Amino acid sequence: MTKENVLEKKFNFSLFRKENVLEKTILIKNRNRIYENKPIIKLTNVSKKYLIKRFFRSDIVHTALLNINLKIFKGECFGIIGKSGSGKSTIVKCILNLEKITSGKITKSKLNSRRDIQIIFQNTKSSLNPSQRIDIMIMEIIKYYKLESNNIKMKKYLNNLLSDVGLEKEILERYPHQLSGGEIQRVAIAKAIAVKPKVIIFDESISGLDLSLQGQILNLLNFLKNKYNLTFIFISHNLNIVKSFCDRISVISEGELVKVGFAEDILKSNVDDIKKLFVKNLNR
Ligand SMILES: Nc1ncnc2c1ncn2[C@@H]1O[C@H](COP(=O)(O)OP(=O)(O)OP(=O)(O)O)[C@@H](O)[C@H]1O
Ligand SMILES: [Mg+2]
Repeated sequence: MTKENVLEKKFNFSLFRKENVLEKTILIKNRNRIYENKPIIKLTNVSKKYLIKRFFRSDIVHTALLNINLKIFKGECFGIIGKSGSGKSTIVKCILNLEKITSGKITKSKLNSRRDIQIIFQNTKSSLNPSQRIDIMIMEIIKYYKLESNNIKMKKYLNNLLSDVGLEKEILERYPHQLSGGEIQRVAIAKAIAVKPKVIIFDESISGLDLSLQGQILNLLNFLKNKYNLTFIFISHNLNIVKSFCDRISVISEGELVKVGFAEDILKSNVDDIKKLFVKNLNR
């Protein structure tokens, strides 16, 4: 059996469509379950200003986020869309405490440890150490967080991770530059789920892949989300992907939240408005 056959057997390689996977009634039932709980992440009037220092001229203040109010619920896939520079990455950096907010409040429920929220970055390949073999890279995480106690258990843990993300053992002895775009994504996903997180943030991580590969990765993410009860925050420029993959979508424009709601409502009733925000990016 070829590698493709093995993977194909495991995952549905057709482009991911939520409507095909879940009947509408099940979708509504799941949503009731998700949205009747308290949010796990809540942003209240969050603003972020950057002070830009300039030589021989006065400093300027750039407002990247202005009074953002958002709630993210356990088990949902929350989409963030908006033009380049609108503030999408800044929102998630603030959630991760990678950036300090200027004013407002971010509350997190049961997300106490750093490993509870994982992020897969815009340029996935460059976020992997080029001089580190894939097995070493993942083993280091297992050791650092003491996820397993001895070598045999660690190997088993690693093999389970590989099987979860649909990778074959041969890739373990390779370096990042020896992997395809799809394999890089799967390694980054394996690294993220290795620490048993509660939330995973995808900051345009799959934007660079071609359409069919994006479909495969979305299928995989949907499978992992259900298996590990994950919550996703999904940043993308691609309206179709966000529509079919996310439960709710927020639209950010020039640092402000202009819309938030269920994917089908946001993208059905305001297509023209949304398109105006995306003129540049749709032509990419
Ligand atoms: N460290 C920083 N110092 C100054 N300005 C910054 C800094 N980080 C981001 N910005 C500015 O804040 C704004 C929002 O940036 P952000 O990275 O959040 O945009 P984005 O929506 O993620 O864009 P893209 O789709 O291109 O990734 C931009 O104008 C950016 O130039
Ligand atoms: Mg960004």
